[in-house]
Amino acid sequence: MFHNLKPQPADKILALMQMYREDPRDQKIDLGVGVYKNAEGVTPVMRAVKAAEQRIWEEQDTKAYTGLAGDPAYADAMIGLILGTAVPRGNIAAVATPGGTGACRQAFELIRMANPTARVFVSNPTWPNHLSILNYLGIETVPYRYFDGETRGVDFDGMIEDLNSANAGDVVLLHGCCHNPTGANLNLVQWQEVVNVINARGLVAMIDIAYQGFGDGLEEDAQATRLVASSVKHCLIAASCSKNFGVYRERTGLLMAISADAGQTRLNQDTLAFLNRQNYSFPPDHGARVVTTILTDDALRADWQAELEEVRLSMLGLRQQLANELQRLSGSDRFGFIAQHRGMFSRLGAAPELVEKLRADHGIYMVGDSRLNIAGLNASSVPILAKAIIDVGV
Ligand code: LMR
Repeated sequence: MFHNLKPQPADKILALMQMYREDPRDQKIDLGVGVYKNAEGVTPVMRAVKAAEQRIWEEQDTKAYTGLAGDPAYADAMIGLILGTAVPRGNIAAVATPGGTGACRQAFELIRMANPTARVFVSNPTWPNHLSILNYLGIETVPYRYFDGETRGVDFDGMIEDLNSANAGDVVLLHGCCHNPTGANLNLVQWQEVVNVINARGLVAMIDIAYQGFGDGLEEDAQATRLVASSVKHCLIAASCSKNFGVYRERTGLLMAISADAGQTRLNQDTLAFLNRQNYSFPPDHGARVVTTILTDDALRADWQAELEEVRLSMLGLRQQLANELQRLSGSDRFGFIAQHRGMFSRLGAAPELVEKLRADHGIYMVGDSRLNIAGLNASSVPILAKAIIDVGV
């Protein structure tokens, strides 16, 4: 049997992570996988997470199963965090999932069950694993224009034109904030136009929100998701706690399906629980419990928000420092977009040969499409990166 297996394409982000680990050079900089590192190069356990874990350790008296949808208190807390009061709770079906990837996977399976001919419109570019999972599930994808290689901003006219070619029932996958891999985002006026196209053409919105709190602030980063969720007929939201709670390995995510009809919401809820049962039965609980403990305790929540804000501001500072350094070295403003982008990533817009040269000659690792993880930098590696970027001729 096993001899029938064929090698699968390596995930580019994870392959890069491995290459970095195996690189024996002392002078190397990892700007690949989207993991936050502090000035010491460490991905710390957040203070509130440690405190919540201690509390759980002291108070938890059973490890018995929760429910197929996970602990309802987790869904309530996450819905509050992401949607605030934008959508009535009774319109939201929600299940805990293993990370944001698990939420995306379950969302795609739900789409396929509900409408096997639906196509999923994806930004060009999008997170590579979106495409990989969609292809694996046999769901047709259609790219819509998104990144403008000249301005390094959003090609909004192209995006709207492409979305206008979608058919009723097709799904539009959007990044709620901090677009991965480009760092280029829509403003709220543009989001409203996207909503108008979704409604005019009878499309289904799907939002992947994995970086809430990493862009303009916790509330600000949720605004687009709230706008879409409260304005369209059908909406799926895949959320991740990996980054904003720093609980990467705990696999903590949530999938929501929003529908204005109470009967439909019950069916959505039952179907999501069914999908959990088929794929892994009960979703992981530890990370979800940590997140719930933090979000439902005023002091822990305040401390978490303060630390998240430190992380966000440090990334903004690094963006500005890198943009300034590149301006100094190049004598031009052509790298100003780095300070405008938001979230963990920026797409530099460098050719693959130059990305390879950065790795081979300078030990600087970024994804082949020239996505760099701003959170992998620190004050002393910024000048090294800037110099290397200019040296290789970006
Ligand atoms: C990334 O894009 O680097 C992160 O979302 C991590 C991952 O799983 O790819």
